[in-house]
Amino acid sequence: MKKLRLGLMSGLLAIAFFVSGMSPLALAVEYSETLPSAPGYNYENDGDYLGYLPNDYYAKQGKLTDKEKAGLQTWYFWTGGNDKFFRDLSTGKILSDSKGYAGTFDFLKLVDARPPNDPVAQADKTFTPLQREDRFKTIGVINDPGCKAATETDEYGLWLDNCNQDPHSTGIMGARKFKNPNFDPLKWNVEEYYKEGAQVEPPYRIGLSCGICHISFNPLDPPQDPEHPSWQNLSGAIGNQYIREGGLFGRNLPKDDFIKELVELQPPGTSDTSRNATDHIDNPNAINSIFNLGDRPTFTEVMNDGSEKEVYHILKDGADSVGLGEAAERVYVNIGVCSDEWLKHHEIIAGIDPQTPFSREKALQPGTCDHDFYIKTASRMDNAAEFLKTIKPYHLADAPNGQAYLTKDEAVLSKGKKLFAHNCAQCHSSKQPPRDLSVEDYQAWYEESVLAADFLDHNFLSTDERYSITEIGTNASRALGTNASGGHIWNDYSSKTFKELPSPNALELENPLKTDQTLKFRPKTSGYYRVPSLISVWSSAPLLLNNSVGKFTGDPSVAGRMEAFNDAIEKLLWPEKRDHVIKRTRQDTQLDLKSIGLGAGKVTVPQGTPAKLVANLDPNNVPLAFIAVPLLQQPLVSRLVAAGVNILPKGWVAPLLLKQNTAPDFVEDRGHVFGTDLPDEDKQALIEFIKTF
Ligand code: HEC
Ligand code: HEC
Repeated sequence: MKKLRLGLMSGLLAIAFFVSGMSPLALAVEYSETLPSAPGYNYENDGDYLGYLPNDYYAKQGKLTDKEKAGLQTWYFWTGGNDKFFRDLSTGKILSDSKGYAGTFDFLKLVDARPPNDPVAQADKTFTPLQREDRFKTIGVINDPGCKAATETDEYGLWLDNCNQDPHSTGIMGARKFKNPNFDPLKWNVEEYYKEGAQVEPPYRIGLSCGICHISFNPLDPPQDPEHPSWQNLSGAIGNQYIREGGLFGRNLPKDDFIKELVELQPPGTSDTSRNATDHIDNPNAINSIFNLGDRPTFTEVMNDGSEKEVYHILKDGADSVGLGEAAERVYVNIGVCSDEWLKHHEIIAGIDPQTPFSREKALQPGTCDHDFYIKTASRMDNAAEFLKTIKPYHLADAPNGQAYLTKDEAVLSKGKKLFAHNCAQCHSSKQPPRDLSVEDYQAWYEESVLAADFLDHNFLSTDERYSITEIGTNASRALGTNASGGHIWNDYSSKTFKELPSPNALELENPLKTDQTLKFRPKTSGYYRVPSLISVWSSAPLLLNNSVGKFTGDPSVAGRMEAFNDAIEKLLWPEKRDHVIKRTRQDTQLDLKSIGLGAGKVTVPQGTPAKLVANLDPNNVPLAFIAVPLLQQPLVSRLVAAGVNILPKGWVAPLLLKQNTAPDFVEDRGHVFGTDLPDEDKQALIEFIKTF
């Protein structure tokens, strides 16, 4: 029987992947004249992948060693050749089943800031040029302080930012431009490029570094104008809380496309890192900040070869548990490094064929990855880790006017500390009692620990332990991800210990179709969340793993952050104030079956449909009735089946979809009820203490 081509859904946005068609050596020669010269820092041979940062910016990071500086360069600028992958993605070359989306992910058009009414851009009906001064508010990316808006076209007719000091900058931090080896000046015509979508090879390909999602504004030095930041306003690993993945990857999808709606429903500051390779689960989550890495607890876990190793629990579910460097290498593959090899192990976007593990051992063998980019990337990870370890907390007391938000009342603060000791420290402190202490003495130990003047020093403010989703009670979608489980794509990057964790008991979840009813779901995967660090949590609301608790202000000033924090922490501690968020489509949208390789036709997904009803489908388990929907929508048939047009969500198909749902947890902002039964006054005292983290 012919396999059904659906999948897609959670498959869409491509956050991931690649191989290069160009030799770094050749590039080094080609670009040598224009290479940025960073005073006082000796670039490595593959300097072509480096970028410009002024000396006083380096200085602001503290007295960095050369290794830490090299690590900083990697974190901000290294793309490992993933520009080829992103180009292939935008041409549809590697989307054999998803041709309808060719041209969708064209980053060059995203950075080509053509004037608003430019006739060339108008040739592409789905495309609206994005101006430099609108980037932050529209898609939440951070402008490169070293660049200026274009005032005229370049030699190719493109309106690219003027980045004199850094020829590889696109003007957006983390988005890097490289010469396209397939570019033919004789065939180039900017009008054709816009008209024909992906048919004409452009002069540049765009690659992404980790910085695109991780660099954002420094809470202690916020920009006057977020569209025009200075270097000093940038922080390397705070996590971009403002980025809109839908705007970044789905900007030129048609407005009524269901996929467009899905990605726009995603909260700012989140990324669905298992969209591709897909686990068929809509589970975007917050890009967390990275602080005090050197104080992060480690665990002895059993590796896949049976050996034991001290590892961190990386990611929300603690899945990346074979070492920090290896975890970071995995992310590079997930954003397009070594994608020729990667794509042999999963089916891009649709994810119909079963995954097989991407082999780290093989990737490390010369010749496996184009230009050995995996090896080159891996060789940078020690330095990158050194850099990440230099990042220290941002305290509200040190922020402009920060003192105004902190209590001066020592009694309140001390009360808050004690409450934290009794209700939170067992999970949210890396300072834990000795193992041989008797249980009765725990509370006294925690109280003494939290009241000590140096409690926050070298404290990761988390045990980093994994807890079952049934214990934490927050939205289970991310914990149900399958990519790190045995035999799946990231098999090699999760420990044996992780893979052998017992699955949680059946979950009792709200039925989104009949909200007064519940449904039972029995997870087959691990189902855990690691305790997140609370360091500088005042600066990173909304809260919880999916950024679902608290309002989004989009304002990086101290006042903007505190407005977001106050709203979020109130909702966290007073659950009755939460919004009961279920992502429902805001308008009628069309799911184009052709674009996802399912043959002809479109399914109408009416306004108000819980998006995960459609997004969380495994193509191998799509109810046949769903595929029949387009047939039912033919005029004649629909006249016969009067109720056939709006099949979703009220019709007879919806319950079938719900039954096949890979992660039917629809309420985003539920759970984590620790401390919620305390008296109001206690909660206020607790909040005062949390602000000092
Ligand atoms: C498209 C956005 C995006 C890009 C690009 C990105 N990240 Fe992340 N990063 C995330 C998200 C989302 C999380 C939280 C994911 C989770 O925990 O499941 C995260 C978390 C992390 C963490 C912290 C995990 C923890 O346990 O504290 C590390 C380390 C990390 N990323 C490394 C990298 C590296 C290395 C790169 C570049 C190769 C990179 N990231 C690129 C989105 C991104
Ligand atoms: C049993 C362990 C445990 C206890 C006890 C606990 N937490 Fe948590 N906490 C977690 C876990 C796990 C998460 C992540 C849940 C998620 O995002 O889905 C979390 C998340 C949070 C967050 C959100 C962090 C962010 O960046 O979004 C805050 C704030 C928080 N906890 C505060 C507290 C406070 C305050 C207390 C005490 C009243 C407390 N927690 C008690 C385990 C715990």
